[in-house]
Amino acid sequence: MDGDAGKNPASAVQLGEGARAFLTGGAKHLLIGGKWVAAHSGETFAAVNPATEEVIGHAASGAKADIDDAVMAARKAFENPNWAGISPHQRAGYLLKLSRLIAENAEELAQLETLNNGTPLAMTRGQMLASAQTFEYYAGWATKIYGETNPSDAAFFNYTLREPLGVCGLIVPWNGPISSASWKLAPALAAGNTCILKPAEQTPLSTIRLGELILEAGFPPGVVNIVTGFGETAGAAISEHPDIDKVAFTGSTAVGKMITRAAAVNLKRVSLELGGKSPNVIFADADIDKAVAASVGGFCFLSGQICVAGTRIFIQEKIYDEVAARIAAYTAHFTVGDPFNPATTMGPVVSAEQFERVTSYFDVAKADGAHVAVGAGTLGGKGYFVKPTLYTGVTNGMRIAQEEVFGPVAAAIPFKDENDAVLQGNDTVYGLAAAVWTKDVGRAHRVARALKAGTVWVNTYLKVDPISGFGGYKQSGYGRELGPHSMDAYTQTKTVYVDVTG
Ligand code: NAI
Ligand code: MG
Repeated sequence: MDGDAGKNPASAVQLGEGARAFLTGGAKHLLIGGKWVAAHSGETFAAVNPATEEVIGHAASGAKADIDDAVMAARKAFENPNWAGISPHQRAGYLLKLSRLIAENAEELAQLETLNNGTPLAMTRGQMLASAQTFEYYAGWATKIYGETNPSDAAFFNYTLREPLGVCGLIVPWNGPISSASWKLAPALAAGNTCILKPAEQTPLSTIRLGELILEAGFPPGVVNIVTGFGETAGAAISEHPDIDKVAFTGSTAVGKMITRAAAVNLKRVSLELGGKSPNVIFADADIDKAVAASVGGFCFLSGQICVAGTRIFIQEKIYDEVAARIAAYTAHFTVGDPFNPATTMGPVVSAEQFERVTSYFDVAKADGAHVAVGAGTLGGKGYFVKPTLYTGVTNGMRIAQEEVFGPVAAAIPFKDENDAVLQGNDTVYGLAAAVWTKDVGRAHRVARALKAGTVWVNTYLKVDPISGFGGYKQSGYGRELGPHSMDAYTQTKTVYVDVTG
């Protein structure tokens, strides 16, 4: 399973010319008002390759003073007729241009992303094309933000306008920096807002390259500003800022709560996409081959660093031992190692901090009495590589079944019948995603309805399409991203009454 790929030296990485050119030439700057500028403090921070632990670049450490500048630039841009006054067709044009530029530069963006967060290259390539598609999808919405005419009494003509919110702060994590940014930027811009985008401190690089493409697409200065920096400084300055109208956040539930409290200062709109502990329910009548393969993908994709990871695998009692053993055996199909090696299907986790956090759960699970079916170890040597791990003998109350690990670690939990599966599946503070595996069509729909989650998959796992809303129940957050729902999240409705009595 582990082979020796994880021990590949950095020199094995074959970057293209574009990515290499991008990485030369010193620390990257902040994009504010259409210009690249250093942080007021002059400070920078390092970006690290998690597969080798080597420093690959530096970015400006933006903080409150830089956020203040970015907000001023974004406010000015929001009011400037070259953005506020253009037709929806022109806004669509900008989004389409950016979509094309992302697609044309997908390889370079993918390489920068892989280098900085360890996602295998085949997957980051897919993410870039999906991000281009997200911009294309929302380009279509720019011209379809309809209001209503309402049946008020005869003395009035009553209609509604749907208007942008204003300046939006977009705070994104490191697990899919460009995907996450596109889910927020594309609908925000389609609706006519202006933005301040803050990538995670672990992964500033690909977002800065995206900023270059945003300038190339010709967006007026200040429509998109990018401030790299830390959560406690740049992130907190966004959520506290009195002149930001909305904050959209993807990340931990703990920080989501802090942002919500800070946002109360001016009652800015908040949308949150937070953690998960998603139940993946396998009934005895399921297509077991398919369920086993997808379940392993469900908790190992992106090294388990996805909010929808299927980390509680509920298996019906009578097939529990067999299916748990098959899931454990199937993890051998995952080749852990150098994310630039085409044979690799799972890279490292993103950082030393996440490595510590994920591996600390090996002790937690042991203390709780869970049994290691496979994994619970690391590759050793350089790089933050964790082995795919499955625990059996787990009860749903154990910490390994309740807390988000954010690594390739799952718990197999037995259940008796449909009712028991739903009760246990819903017994968590989270509600982001869930899956059900069965050939009984009635049961599939019953369980899909009964599970409290923002997305439910039936006989599949991980499918996401920009045409359909995505988001959480319970403490997995609120508001929906993607689909038409996101246009609601970035617009507000104005009701107009016109006296027509003359
Ligand atoms: P985090 O929630 O601290 O970071 C996510 C983003 O929020 C980053 O851009 C960060 O700079 C920013 N941030 C941090 N503190 C902030 C603050 N006080 N105000 C405003 N912005 C702030 O997540 P972290 O520390 O990287 O990972 C910890 C855990 O969070 C993970 O183990 C995982 O369980 C969860 N997580 C969930 C994600 C998801 O996709 N839902 C993504 C990343 C992390
Ligand atoms: Mg954090």
